Amino acid sequence: MHKFVVEGGKELIGEIRISGSKNEVLPILAATLMTDERSIIRNVPNLSDVRLMLEILEELGCQTTFDRGTVTVTPYNLDRTQASYELVSQMRASFCVLGPLLSFRKKAKVSLPGGCVIGVRPVDLHLRGIKALGVNYDLDHGYVVADGSQMQGTRIFLGGNSGSTVTGTANIMMAAVLANGTTYIEQAAPEPEVEGLARMLNSMGAQIFGAGSHRIEIRGVDRLRGADYTVQPDRMETATYAVAAAITHGDLTLTNSKYENLIAFWEKLKETGTQVEQIASDKIRVRGGEINPTDIVTFAYPGFPTDAQAPMASLLSLANGISIVTDTIYPDRFMLIAELNRMGADIRKQNNSAIINGTKHLSGAQVMGSDLRATAALVLAGLAAKGETEVHRVYHVDRGYEQMELKLAKVGARIERAEYNPRRRKSDREAA
Ligand code: EPZ
Repeated sequence: MHKFVVEGGKELIGEIRISGSKNEVLPILAATLMTDERSIIRNVPNLSDVRLMLEILEELGCQTTFDRGTVTVTPYNLDRTQASYELVSQMRASFCVLGPLLSFRKKAKVSLPGGCVIGVRPVDLHLRGIKALGVNYDLDHGYVVADGSQMQGTRIFLGGNSGSTVTGTANIMMAAVLANGTTYIEQAAPEPEVEGLARMLNSMGAQIFGAGSHRIEIRGVDRLRGADYTVQPDRMETATYAVAAAITHGDLTLTNSKYENLIAFWEKLKETGTQVEQIASDKIRVRGGEINPTDIVTFAYPGFPTDAQAPMASLLSLANGISIVTDTIYPDRFMLIAELNRMGADIRKQNNSAIINGTKHLSGAQVMGSDLRATAALVLAGLAAKGETEVHRVYHVDRGYEQMELKLAKVGARIERAEYNPRRRKSDREAA
């Protein structure tokens, strides 16, 4: 296993290039299943989640290449319509192959994804959507076994108790593209990643209107061409490195970035006293100043993104006052608290909120990552802590941040990746 060893206290100065978006590229790759022509996807980040999605596409009868940020996908065996538990259970977003398989290959057997530490993460809204489209399906031994041969466009309400669903909207939008007739998705997820997927599908010949809003219209078409699509910058990577500048009182320019799809995040970051300036259409300069407290409540886009609440919690643990961070999307997404408190933070969980009483400094410690964003947030805390921090289980970071330690070292961070063998308790060793 790998860990990051971080020596805190260095101000980060310089430029960080933002990679392509993980949460956009995963459904984009699934969409290449909707044609028998070759697709080219550019600005693809080299992440373990991306490599896993390519494995799933190969299991589904596609030949793939991935070279210097460009992926090609060439479907050659359309009879392969089963996505296995071994692969799907490792990454929830792989459930997004369901819609594409149903729309073009007319049948699918896809493992239900598991939950994860941030929540139960059901797929009931995805299933509500395909059922409304006329798909007959069974839940059989942990798989969705579905027949898409009779799909008919319809009006679908896709809202759940926690609001809209991002990958659910992606799945149903893809399922509807090749259905007979027109589909309307009400309370669709308006995230930029959904808008990007629609843009790519329309470049392949789809007829999608209103993506990026809460109502999407999809007029069914007969077939799609191969795609040639460039992935947009990763919003969450941008937010994470913006906090890196703030928490180290540094001065970072984030290049190949996009300001306008993180408005709620920038507003909150500025409230802490951080200086944020868009210096070009794809460049954002972030300078750390004092760290003032602020209150955050996460909402679906364009509200404050749940994926940015952990990095912000690390920053607010050093604020000169009390902050409250509430997650309305994932009420239990606070595994980070216990680890930050081991570094000297003073945070307590109350229902779906973290009450953060800012401290003057954090102390380096051995800490353990629990999920993608919490592990990134621990690296940020280590950059600011006094002394050395070891962040264990950095495979979480490798899922969604391309070469994080190299990007941070390039702007002055003292961080390196090291191997370690997770020690087992004596009793476990004896039992083994
Ligand atoms: C996407 O996950 C992102 N992942 C998540 O990012 C992000 O946190 C999440 O959207 C919310 O913005 C990708 O895009 C690959 P949802 P998704 O369906 O689509 C509930 C990261 O760190 N819900 O929008 O799986 C659900 O429990 C990851 O990059 C249902 O109840 O999330 C949650 O409370 C983590 N039934 C809320 O809706 C369903 O059928 C939003 O979930 C589906 C979802």
